[in-house]
Amino acid sequence: MGKIAAPLTLSTFPLLGLAFGLLFAGISLNVASLNVAVAQTPSPVKELGPASGPVIAVSCGSVGIEFQVCESGVNGWANATGHRVQLISTPNDSNERLALYQQLLAAKSGDIDVFQIDVVWPGILSNHLIDLRGVVDQKTLEQHFKAIVTNDVVNNRLVAIPWFTDAGLFYYRKDLLEKYGRKLPETWQEMTETARFIQKAEREAGNSRMWGYVFQGRAYEGLTVNALEWLDSFNAGTIVDLDGKITVNNPRAADALTLAASWINDITPQGVLNYSEEECRGVFQSGNAVFMRNWPYAWPLMNAQDSPVKDKIGVAPLLKGGPDGKHTSTLGGWQLAVSKYSKNPEVASDLVRYLTSMEEQKRRAVVGGFNPTIDALYKDEDVLKANPFFGELYETFVNAVARPARATGVRYNQVSAEFWNAVHATLSGDGDAKTNLASLEKTLDRVSRGGRW
Ligand code: GLC
Repeated sequence: MGKIAAPLTLSTFPLLGLAFGLLFAGISLNVASLNVAVAQTPSPVKELGPASGPVIAVSCGSVGIEFQVCESGVNGWANATGHRVQLISTPNDSNERLALYQQLLAAKSGDIDVFQIDVVWPGILSNHLIDLRGVVDQKTLEQHFKAIVTNDVVNNRLVAIPWFTDAGLFYYRKDLLEKYGRKLPETWQEMTETARFIQKAEREAGNSRMWGYVFQGRAYEGLTVNALEWLDSFNAGTIVDLDGKITVNNPRAADALTLAASWINDITPQGVLNYSEEECRGVFQSGNAVFMRNWPYAWPLMNAQDSPVKDKIGVAPLLKGGPDGKHTSTLGGWQLAVSKYSKNPEVASDLVRYLTSMEEQKRRAVVGGFNPTIDALYKDEDVLKANPFFGELYETFVNAVARPARATGVRYNQVSAEFWNAVHATLSGDGDAKTNLASLEKTLDRVSRGGRW
């Protein structure tokens, strides 16, 4: 079930090499990314621009249509500037991508010039990234959400520029709620009841594959994201607070995880324990789930011409952990950074400037549903026409809750891995929430060196 006991960094597998380490841990990589890890030479999936000359290699994610949207942006820059570019495909699971980056950067490899980095990584990777201050002027930088820019500043260095932001959303089948005269649930508890009711009725009506709720339950970064949403919606804190205090072992957190564990095999398939974003979308988009947690990127795909759920779905803030709880989304999103080992840092920086610009962020929002990090675009007519919920759920995007990456610094990935493993065990019935949280607290205390991080 892809369960790993410790974060996968080069230091975890000093002699074995990363690819073997990942395989050893039961994680599968696609062939393109495996080549990258074994040979330490990323194999470009695509080359754009002239056939010769210095080349800028950029890593692009490939969740949904992400790779194609990245490619068209990069192509725009290559055409405008005449530069040669290689697009590198990297693993979709965020923590696997991090492990790959860490291996390349630890080896001071210049094979990737421009890195797409997760919102929780600036503190982990900052030493390998150049300072991008001056790449965009101050006025342009101020157009971006301040909190995200601040997050990209480490030790007074701007180590990345915001590219798109993310917040967890609650997708629901409008048609099924209507058919069964049910309201959109407000709390996780109501959701459990409604999901169970509709799942049963739909199965009786002949759809034996119908499930109530799907979410990202694999033992990976996405599970940390989902479980943080459950915890915070129960007012159970954010694992580690802003001052670095470990808060995760508390009764409300146990209630949240106990409820989530009760979903498995009731309203949620057992298989969810190995689902990331795309597996969830697959189930929901084929019409086999009433509710789903996912990111905004799923919206345009689920409303595409050939989607079986086109026009049947709605999107809302994630649910509250009971009447006194709150709607919580975890803050996600990606930035662009330039490697310190790039042979062409100025040209690479120009690509980052182009891709993070207002024009390009607008294009990506319209064609791919990627949330801009530039506030003004949330009032742009074309952006709102393609994604009406960008306006309706604006508060959700700007108030999303951060994972404890600032407080835990370079140890964030280790903290996250310990957390997702404890949650995954609880969902799998391997120990109850209370016991697993108590032992997680002890482990995190060790990781934090007694709270000093
Ligand atoms: C999305 C988010 C990212 C998060 C990841 C987890 O890509 O943008 O921040 O870490 O999902 O699966």
